[in-house]
Amino acid sequence: MFRMKKIFLVLALVLGWISTQAQTPQTNLIPAPAVYSLRSGSVSGSKLACLHEKVRISEKALLRRFKGRKLADWQLKSAYWLEVGKKGVKIVAADEEGVFYARQTLKMMASLDSSVSCCTILDWPRLRYRGMMLDVSRHFQGKDFVMKQLEMMALLKMNRFHFHLVDNPGWRLQIDAYPSLTKLTAWRPQAFFWDWEKNEIGGPFVEEGTPGVYGGYFTKQDIAEILAFADERHIEVIPEIEMPGHNYETRAAYPELACSLPSGGKDPWELCPGKESTFEFLEKVLLEVFDMFPSRYIHIGGDEARKNNWKLCPDCQARMKSEGLERVEELQSYMIRRMERFAHEHGKRIIGWDEILQGGLAPDATVMSWHGTEAGLQAVREGHDVIFTPTHYYYLDYHQDPAQFRPVGRLVSLEKVYSFEPMVEGISEADAHHVLGVQGNLWTEHVQDAWHAEMMLYPRVFAIAETGWSQAEKKEWPDFERRASFLSDVARKWGYTVYPPFPQE
Ligand code: ACM
Ligand code: ZN
Repeated sequence: MFRMKKIFLVLALVLGWISTQAQTPQTNLIPAPAVYSLRSGSVSGSKLACLHEKVRISEKALLRRFKGRKLADWQLKSAYWLEVGKKGVKIVAADEEGVFYARQTLKMMASLDSSVSCCTILDWPRLRYRGMMLDVSRHFQGKDFVMKQLEMMALLKMNRFHFHLVDNPGWRLQIDAYPSLTKLTAWRPQAFFWDWEKNEIGGPFVEEGTPGVYGGYFTKQDIAEILAFADERHIEVIPEIEMPGHNYETRAAYPELACSLPSGGKDPWELCPGKESTFEFLEKVLLEVFDMFPSRYIHIGGDEARKNNWKLCPDCQARMKSEGLERVEELQSYMIRRMERFAHEHGKRIIGWDEILQGGLAPDATVMSWHGTEAGLQAVREGHDVIFTPTHYYYLDYHQDPAQFRPVGRLVSLEKVYSFEPMVEGISEADAHHVLGVQGNLWTEHVQDAWHAEMMLYPRVFAIAETGWSQAEKKEWPDFERRASFLSDVARKWGYTVYPPFPQE
């Protein structure tokens, strides 16, 4: 009997040993790296930053480590090989960008683990656009808040910040040619958006400097500082200037930009695409925006234009007649195409929300697919680039837990965010390069302050970062959930509010 027990014990130990050997080594990193192998020994997390660092920037040397694996140029630029040893750290990359991402990996390792296992990592991004959008119009957040989020994005290897700067409740960008945009329509009497907006129409604006006024905007100097900060972190900032809808504030500052309506017309959102002066306004604004932002892209909005005014406005009707347009959707396309030509003349490409498909897509436009993924699929099939930001997965104003503060929209839990697969069904291998990437959108109608904004972002942005960077086969929900909880604790220590904002003791 005793002999049998001994045999079972030995067998259990051997099986246990075999199963530990077969397991892939575990890392706590987000996003999960492509190839991670353990070496013997460990380094204390606090000492990692002080170890000797040897950096080599050489495409050839990096490619040797890839052993024939094919990468696109943009992937190679971000790729890195990293070796953490007891005595030092070695980095090989083809470009400064890869060195930057290797260092972000080191920074995260040192923050997550008191004892970092010696290891080798070979890593590269899955998608080239790994984005986050912040709406600073409904409720304003300033430069410090923006930079703090850029810092977290960089740690997560995210590389596109979509800056939703203007919308009905506030214009947030200095434009010298049109000073009323910030002297007047960046300020309102009520701080909370829903106290200001009545019946989906919008409330009053008041002059800058009025006592008790709520609002704010970014000066050109603020933008320059944000851009320098983002650039050091390999993040491209893409500004959005909305047209033709969501322009209540623009029209409050410059009423001549609205349609000239016979009595009875009262839809207040659109610019008038019938008038030449509207294009003059947009072009002058965009010239200043192009001067401020070096991004190749300008986001021109294009969403939710109601277009009812255009059926009544003599200028819009005249434009439709002279351009041979039958539907108001085509009038929107006329406007977007014309603005695309202007953007091209200045070396820029446009991005628009998926409504820009409705009256025919501008030739070179990139589509942000937000009504689910169908529009994105259509755009890809028409040969256009697409960024997926579907409401049911990536709208970060939607609640992540029914018990949270001010829950709105559908339930978009961390697991739901993590489950999104950007190569949606129907996209062929040949078209896959048109899927630029993914983006989480934080709309702020219900999100009034930094505390609330951050808890809507985190930890869900961690999941978007992993979907954008990590190879598809590396994604695994239970393991991500474990890692997200470690990173949440670290982020809290650094002063971020992470959901739940009051973790259980
Ligand atoms: C949007 O949510 N209106 C793009
Ligand atoms: Zn009009």
